[in-house]
Amino acid sequence: MADPNGGPLRTAVIIGSTRDGRFGPVVAEWIAGHITERADLTAEVIDLVETPLPTVFPAFGQALADEAAAQLEAVSPRLARADAFVIVTPEYNHSFPAPLKNAIDWHNEQWHAKPVGFVSYGGLSGGLRAVEQLRVVLAELHAVTIRNTVSFHNYGEVFGADGKPTDPGSEAAAKAMLDQLTWWAHALRAARHTRPYSA
Ligand SMILES: Cc1cc2nc3c(=O)[nH]c(=O)nc-3n(C[C@H](O)[C@H](O)[C@H](O)COP(=O)(O)O)c2cc1C
Repeated sequence: MADPNGGPLRTAVIIGSTRDGRFGPVVAEWIAGHITERADLTAEVIDLVETPLPTVFPAFGQALADEAAAQLEAVSPRLARADAFVIVTPEYNHSFPAPLKNAIDWHNEQWHAKPVGFVSYGGLSGGLRAVEQLRVVLAELHAVTIRNTVSFHNYGEVFGADGKPTDPGSEAAAKAMLDQLTWWAHALRAARHTRPYSA
């Protein structure tokens, strides 16, 4: 088991959108930049376009087909080794995109006793309804969702050509969310080490 005090906290940044022409990677790159600037965090971006997951689940007790197993193998170990997650999500019909739910559902213990922060974007709502629905789903998976979020309302108007938000308040929001994520990630990594989480 990893040393609870050893090394930076591995943070998986998951891009929730797989849409052609999506905006998600711009947001993900921005928050990943903030993560890598911090001495106590590292960032690994998980893009569900680069590593798509199967959408048909096997019957209970049935082994995965080879192709599905290979697709899972490209994602699952990366979630398993993460100490923390940041989910970057748009809002689709007042919720979050189906490929993100699929990625969540393929996994279970990979989420246990780990913190999850959110960066959301959308129209007037800024993706906040997607985030609130994610909290409910992730609670079922024994994850700890972070109170503060970063949200971009009318996202098309608040990012500059350099791929960064124009409002300095976004930087402060990112710092607050990542400070809380870091606290929880340290606390939960140490706790998992001391007493393995039993679901
Ligand atoms: C299927 C679909 C449903 C959407 N529903 C909402 C919505 O409920 N609320 C909202 O603010 N924006 C909604 N939008 C607009 C998205 O927030 C916007 O298109 C955003 O760019 C999507 O993220 P993406 O570009 O990374 O895919 C929707 C977009 C799509 C494609």
